[in-house]
Amino acid sequence: MQPVRKAVFPVAGLGTRFLPATKAVPKEVLPLVDKPLIQYAIDEARAAGITDFIFVTAKGKSALEDYFDSSPELIRSLKAKGKTDLLKAIEPSNMASGSISYIRQQEALGLGHAVWCARHLVGDEPFAVILPDDVIAAETPVLRQMVDAYSETSGNMVAAMQTVPSQISNYGVIDVAEDHGRLVKMAGMVEKPPADEAPSNLAVIGRYILSPQVMRNLSAMKPGAGGEIQLTDAIAAEIASGANVYGLRFDGERYDCGSKAGYLQAIVAFALARPDLAGEFRDFITTTLAEAETGAKAAE
Ligand code: G1P
Repeated sequence: MQPVRKAVFPVAGLGTRFLPATKAVPKEVLPLVDKPLIQYAIDEARAAGITDFIFVTAKGKSALEDYFDSSPELIRSLKAKGKTDLLKAIEPSNMASGSISYIRQQEALGLGHAVWCARHLVGDEPFAVILPDDVIAAETPVLRQMVDAYSETSGNMVAAMQTVPSQISNYGVIDVAEDHGRLVKMAGMVEKPPADEAPSNLAVIGRYILSPQVMRNLSAMKPGAGGEIQLTDAIAAEIASGANVYGLRFDGERYDCGSKAGYLQAIVAFALARPDLAGEFRDFITTTLAEAETGAKAAE
């Protein structure tokens, strides 16, 4: 079985939900505590053994490229000041020469189209897709969990999460053929169905391991849900052709950092998990909540 060495990061979105901030700053560079969102995705990919990082970008994303560039002046200045902790903090943003590539998506035609833009860089081998908006706190990083499971199953794999019926129409949804607990074998996949037509409450979260055939399927995809070329449809075509596609109910807490509420929840959770910040931050939250409650009671 070919190892999964390459990961595609679709980062061409306009990030309109975070306007006005995203007028000047790509949403992938927004900080979660002190690391840009994209760094969490890169760290997760590295932990899964990924060595080739492919970004599908668009106009206005130069801050993202700068972030992964070398910064000799900064390094010189930190070294001169003996700031070893900060030197260590910027280390993960150093990418080995030639390990990162950028391709532009000229038109916003959907997630499937964005992934397809990377076809020549991916070539004829299995590849991962990571949607950096989905940040997942997990003891074992989720893509690692998936690569490990995939080494047993081969085929294709998506990250799966149980959700509530009222939320299901925001996701790609799994039609379950066989439920083996942690792993489900899929009978189909539907992009953002109305709740009453959803085949299950098992949603796909933004982590995929896909065969090169899915990339070929994308070449033939017509616009689907929302008038966009959907990755979901190319995976559904793969299932329809008889290939194995599995959903992995991963261990971890997922935050939808593509929405304001999810982004704020992630900031709170990640700050509380940081030994250097947790104490002060917890005190602040406790006091603020108590004050808000007193204020609410007074207003009654
Ligand atoms: C995308 C996918 C969807 C998936 C979701 C996970 O949708 O199209 O199938 O469930 O990511 O976050 P988006 O959130 O980009 O609309």
